[in-house]
Amino acid sequence: MADHRVTRRKFLKTSSVATAAFFGSTVFDAGSLLAAGPHLRRDVGGLPSTSSVLKSYKKAIQAMKALPTSNPLSWDYQAAIHGTLLAGTHTAWNTCEHGTYFFFSWHRMYLWYFEKIIRKMSGHPEWALPFWNYESGAERKLPEPFRSPAAASNDLYTPNRGPGWNDGTSELLPSSVATAAAFAHVPFNDFSSSLEGTPHAAVHVSIGSWMGSISTAAQDPIFWLHHCNIDRLWNLWLAAGGGRTDPLGDSTWKDTKFTFFDENGNEVQLTGCDILRAQKQLHYRYEGEPKQVELFCARHLPIPTWVKEMLFKIPEPPVVGPGPDPVPFEIDIREFRDRLSRIAAERDADLLLDFTEVEADRQPDVYYEVYLGLPKGAEPQFDSPYYVGNLAFFGHGVRDERQHGGFHPASFSFRINRAVEAALKRDAQAGSLNALLVPRVAARDGKPIAARASAKIRIGSAAISVRRKQKR
Ligand code: C2O
Repeated sequence: MADHRVTRRKFLKTSSVATAAFFGSTVFDAGSLLAAGPHLRRDVGGLPSTSSVLKSYKKAIQAMKALPTSNPLSWDYQAAIHGTLLAGTHTAWNTCEHGTYFFFSWHRMYLWYFEKIIRKMSGHPEWALPFWNYESGAERKLPEPFRSPAAASNDLYTPNRGPGWNDGTSELLPSSVATAAAFAHVPFNDFSSSLEGTPHAAVHVSIGSWMGSISTAAQDPIFWLHHCNIDRLWNLWLAAGGGRTDPLGDSTWKDTKFTFFDENGNEVQLTGCDILRAQKQLHYRYEGEPKQVELFCARHLPIPTWVKEMLFKIPEPPVVGPGPDPVPFEIDIREFRDRLSRIAAERDADLLLDFTEVEADRQPDVYYEVYLGLPKGAEPQFDSPYYVGNLAFFGHGVRDERQHGGFHPASFSFRINRAVEAALKRDAQAGSLNALLVPRVAARDGKPIAARASAKIRIGSAAISVRRKQKR
């Protein structure tokens, strides 16, 4: 059965010109129609450690670890495609996309081939990658099957995780896994960079150690379940509608080719257009997800354009960290108060707090919750209207991360309509808004543990701006 499929794929590959013309997209449309039902990517929270999904994953990891690093199917090679500290140059090493609009598409491709490799190495042809659904309150700890070093034969375990994860005492904080701030963005690029921050980077940072750095993260077996969830969130964001769509008017996003290896160790390439429809093109779907939105490169609705206008710059943005202290600063709004309150209440305008040219010398090992408009002396509460999002780093923005294309700073954009409205409702004559950055890393027994930033973060520029859909 499996062999049959491989042969068919090969056949389709060689005739891809004709097939692509016929199907209007790629060879995978045809391949998936001919194969059995879609692979189901399941919530790891519903899988006992004895489940065949986890057993096969272990078995495959073991087999991949036995291969030499130079073999594209080896565990090391697969991780090195993401990033590695190993010397030497091999095809596709160190090619992960961070801080660019390829973040979702590149990782989707990466996971898809990885999943095929696991299928082959485990001999489990129906295998599909599970996802870590940490936004659910019941799944805030590292999934149990990944924790126990017992019998040294648990290939889902690594000691290279931050404190408390492997003994099950640490939990992800609600702010590190929240998707609402990212989902509030309708333009793709803003959604992508926001979700890449939270939950994506925030979860990386919270787990720490290997997971905290581009060059080591993909060696941790949990990395793949984390990214499977990120990929699922891309589908969910599209399904939320309201004009949310992929950048189908952008030929660079659609046509740029990325290189990977298939389960036979052959070099392969995919483009954005090849991976738009998870179920139809790539043949997988997620447990519990609504009907997938089907986008097509060849025919798409006009993509709205957005105009962003800066209202004012915030003079002297604060220096953040190192250390354990929250960082307060004040934003003078005397000249802008009336405009701010008008825009905050407008239905089709997004008021944004932008931090640009943001950089840290090293991974700060914490993320910062960002609050705006907090009453003086009030406790920062994640579930209050004053919480607007997080400052979280993974890869870009971190000076000592080895990234292809070299260093580039990070930027963050927080939608602040709700916070501004709440603050001005409390005090319609306020001359300033209090902002507060609070370092966080994890929780124990439901409470945030002490968090200490191990690097200084510089915010090159901070501003308040307004974003509107361009009228046609
Ligand atoms: Cu390329 Cu979560 O990383």
